[in-house]
Amino acid sequence: MIHGGNLKLGLVVVGQDYINRVFACFNAFPEMINWISEFMIWEGKVVAFLQVPNQQIGLRTLQKLEDAAVHIKGDFSWGFVEKSEAILSECLTLHHIDLKVQKGEFVCVIGAVGAGKTSLLNAIGGNLLFVPEQLVSEKPKRWSNAQLKDLALELASVDCSLHSPVVHEGAMTIAEQRAWIENKTIRQIILFGRPLDQKRYDETIQACQLQNDLAILPAGDQTEIGEAGLNLSGGQKARVSLARAVYADSEILLLDDPISALDADVGKKVFHQVIKGICKHKTIILATHAVDYLHLAD
Ligand SMILES: Nc1ncnc2c1ncn2[C@@H]1O[C@H](COP(=O)(O)OP(=O)(O)O)[C@@H](O)[C@H]1O
Ligand SMILES: [Mg+2]
Repeated sequence: MIHGGNLKLGLVVVGQDYINRVFACFNAFPEMINWISEFMIWEGKVVAFLQVPNQQIGLRTLQKLEDAAVHIKGDFSWGFVEKSEAILSECLTLHHIDLKVQKGEFVCVIGAVGAGKTSLLNAIGGNLLFVPEQLVSEKPKRWSNAQLKDLALELASVDCSLHSPVVHEGAMTIAEQRAWIENKTIRQIILFGRPLDQKRYDETIQACQLQNDLAILPAGDQTEIGEAGLNLSGGQKARVSLARAVYADSEILLLDDPISALDADVGKKVFHQVIKGICKHKTIILATHAVDYLHLAD
């Protein structure tokens, strides 16, 4: 009760509201502490994730080689975080690889689905984790999921520079089977940030059999594709992805089955005009199902 004051109703209402708001702030205080601590935990996780190198140090080295364009040697894994419990050799995708490809050679990699063709090309591209042999040959022991996670993180920061498992002379480009298509125009996807060399671009379009597709698209090679634009068919995606690799003009091409998504006659033209045509002087490693072309490999 208040004595001797001249209290107006408006002041009481505003005062009450003010006190309520201050108390509401205090009520929210424990929750705020919760949010702050959660934020700090997640911030730590995000920073740790961003700091993990996306390739082991020295995994892939560009250097002059006497007798090869590419040499890959060792055991490789896509990573083992999804395993609940395992011995290390079960987590390897590629065992005891030792492959040397000579300069200018055309090599085919053949195997059943799941045999590891895509993995081999990606290992050469430096996208797999190199697993040192002594780690695998150590007394077989079961690793728990948590141990495997820690090991994957630890391996990601291993320095392999002393004996790089992948050594290559010349730039490498991989044409993926599952073409990675962004929301860009076809021309932007093929150029991939490189300046336009009209002659090379036209030759690439021609060799990858894209001229007819571009002719019927509403804006030709300026047509936007991806989520916001037009959807390409599997065969068109494979040829756009191949065109990007061809246009990159690297010395070494890693081609992940660009032909199996194509009709037989288109596939034949692509094979002869790209692999045996404008790229015939390059070192090419082709993963494929198409055994019809095997006799043309070196
Ligand atoms: N991007 C990937 N991430 C994780 N594992 C993969 C990936 N691609 C392939 N694998 C795994 O690698 C193994 C070999 O598959 P893959 O290399 O795709 O064989 P192929 O190309 O001969 O069909 C399979 O167990 C597959 O699940
Ligand atoms: Mg594959």
